[in-house]
Amino acid sequence: MTSSEQKLREILALDVELNRIQDVDILLERILSEARRVARADAGSIYVRKEDELLISYAQNDTHQAKLPKGQKLIYNVFTVPISHKTISGYCAATGEQVNIPDVYEIPDEAPYGFDPSYDRISEYRSRSMLAIPLRDQNGTILGVIQLINKINPDGSVGVFDADDELITMHFATNATVALQRAQMTRAIILRMIRMAELRDPKETGPHVNRVAGYSVEIYEHWAQRQGHDPKEIERGRDNLRMAAMLHDVGKVAISDTILKKPGRFTDEEFSVMKTHTWVGARLFADRQSEFDAIAAEIAVSHHESWDGTGYPGKVDINTGEPVETDDAGKAVGYAGEEIPIYGRIVSIADVYDALCSSRVYKEAWSEDDVVEEIRKLSGVKFDPEVVECFLEVLPNIRQITKRYKDPE
Ligand SMILES: [Fe+2]
Ligand SMILES: [Fe+2]
Repeated sequence: MTSSEQKLREILALDVELNRIQDVDILLERILSEARRVARADAGSIYVRKEDELLISYAQNDTHQAKLPKGQKLIYNVFTVPISHKTISGYCAATGEQVNIPDVYEIPDEAPYGFDPSYDRISEYRSRSMLAIPLRDQNGTILGVIQLINKINPDGSVGVFDADDELITMHFATNATVALQRAQMTRAIILRMIRMAELRDPKETGPHVNRVAGYSVEIYEHWAQRQGHDPKEIERGRDNLRMAAMLHDVGKVAISDTILKKPGRFTDEEFSVMKTHTWVGARLFADRQSEFDAIAAEIAVSHHESWDGTGYPGKVDINTGEPVETDDAGKAVGYAGEEIPIYGRIVSIADVYDALCSSRVYKEAWSEDDVVEEIRKLSGVKFDPEVVECFLEVLPNIRQITKRYKDPE
């Protein structure tokens, strides 16, 4: 087999694998890393179109990554570029043309686009060669741009992207586009499900749900790496966790308006009705079609359980809410410690963290210090101590997610 044949086989096998990934964020990250690996690019980004701007959605940089402790994720600035002729990615999105530049510092004056060296200054990097390919669907709509930076020659020096690299990247761009559309569709359906839940419960806003999901994924990834889980398994876990975490409170669709929309504190009776959102949510996924359904059910039912066993709903039948194991008072025994599924333990911290950090009708937002202090205090009481540790270690990433999904003013 020739090396290009081998490359082709490898890319085709990858296509099959990529097709299995449901979550659009995870998919784009993976496509970016594969495109970079095959085209031998030191760095790269994927921009996703949001109306008339491009949002940098993924950024990878091997040079920067190599300076970080193993397993730590690269933090990059979240920024947008206008879809216009000014920047390279903006030009690529505006015109649908690919751009291949040997050295971004040597762009001829007559070129319609330019390179803004402040990006390099901020990130302490020297960009040289750059390849930008549009993500264009079959209607010609531009969904985003994939950009590779600094081709690495076999001797380690920085070279120029050639025609082969263009072809390979175009292939990944097509792949990204198709998958982006498909994933966006699946996601859209789940988001509708989430919106339905939101209509019932105005306290559970879209940004809250996005943040809880984002935090959960960060904590999970770190936790799973510490446990030494297989990277493939971690990726699948993240994929399912993100969307399942968004549905943690979906069972609230079954709670009456008088309770759900009550601004003040609940009476004991109201609270006990409220607690049913856990197993009612799990019941929505009882007819299991996929691993995703199993995880969504697990999170819905266990995100209010407590490490010390005092949470709810405890050991109940998710079809009826009836206890399957009772204490002396006849109440369902709570799940405790590692009996609580890991995803439930993670979402529980993410949910509490976000609730405390946010202002609600009945409370002010707490300062981050106070929230962190509170979570530390609840370690080993309400929360799994190990998950608390992971949470503290990924706090910088968590702050970035808070910034990304701000509540509307
Ligand atoms: Fe809940
Ligand atoms: Fe929540």
